Amino acid sequence: MKETKGFQYLEGSRFDRLSIETRHKPAIAKVEPFKRYPQADKIPLPRSWILAEEHLIPLLQHRRSLRKYSTEPLSLEHLAFMFWASQGITGQAGRYLFRAAPSGGALYPVETYINAHSIQGLDAGLYHFDAEHFALDRLTVQDQAEALALACLDQKFMAQAAVIFLWTGIFRRAMSKYGDRGMRYILLDAGHICQNLLLAAEAVGCGGCPVGAFYDNELNQLLQIDGEEESILYAAAVGRKILPRD
Ligand SMILES: Cc1cc2nc3c(=O)[nH]c(=O)nc-3n(C[C@H](O)[C@H](O)[C@H](O)COP(=O)(O)O)c2cc1C
Repeated sequence: MKETKGFQYLEGSRFDRLSIETRHKPAIAKVEPFKRYPQADKIPLPRSWILAEEHLIPLLQHRRSLRKYSTEPLSLEHLAFMFWASQGITGQAGRYLFRAAPSGGALYPVETYINAHSIQGLDAGLYHFDAEHFALDRLTVQDQAEALALACLDQKFMAQAAVIFLWTGIFRRAMSKYGDRGMRYILLDAGHICQNLLLAAEAVGCGGCPVGAFYDNELNQLLQIDGEEESILYAAAVGRKILPRD
């Protein structure tokens, strides 16, 4: 086990009391805190999803990874709610904007993309979530569900989901401050975001399945990202639950 890169990375990025002040900090240039698509069509997301109050305990109790979905489309309001719950801006202190999920150093190195497959009022295709404006940047005009499922080791259930969330890391955002250790925070951030999403999905009669099995380069290509400055970290397929009347 000790020969694995994963183990060596964790060891190489450890903090200890003796070296914390003197440790080597690589000089990594900073990047913008928000990713912008100035040329893309911008689709504002509704904020009208105020829900009947949901209690946390049943959401935690009932969340299960869901791989079979109703064919009913998801409403744009419920999709918008999922963006808000997973990566929405929920607070501000000076120039710092805070989001619904915690982030190491409030640096928010994770970007969110979706493939809309079956969303009422939203054309199918790939979109980038613009957290700053609570809007979607349209990236493609074609549904990429089949291609995404194929790139995720052909996990066919994903192509049936109303929406596939894809989270990438912009490594410099965290690594320019934290060096090696920043990679840990990026991965931890992605976990928080996905869990918020899964609980939000549960709150609106949906379910989701997190997906960590994928061919990284294939997903990066579909998202048109370089795999170095920005690369895929994690994904989740989400759809409405099948109800007895369906
Ligand atoms: C990091 C991570 C990666 C996962 N990757 C996949 C995946 O690629 N495909 C899949 O069907 N489920 C995947 N899962 C879902 C797990 O199989 C599931 O969480 C586990 O069986 C526990 O079941 P539960 O989520 O219903 O509680 C993943 C879960 C996590 C946390």
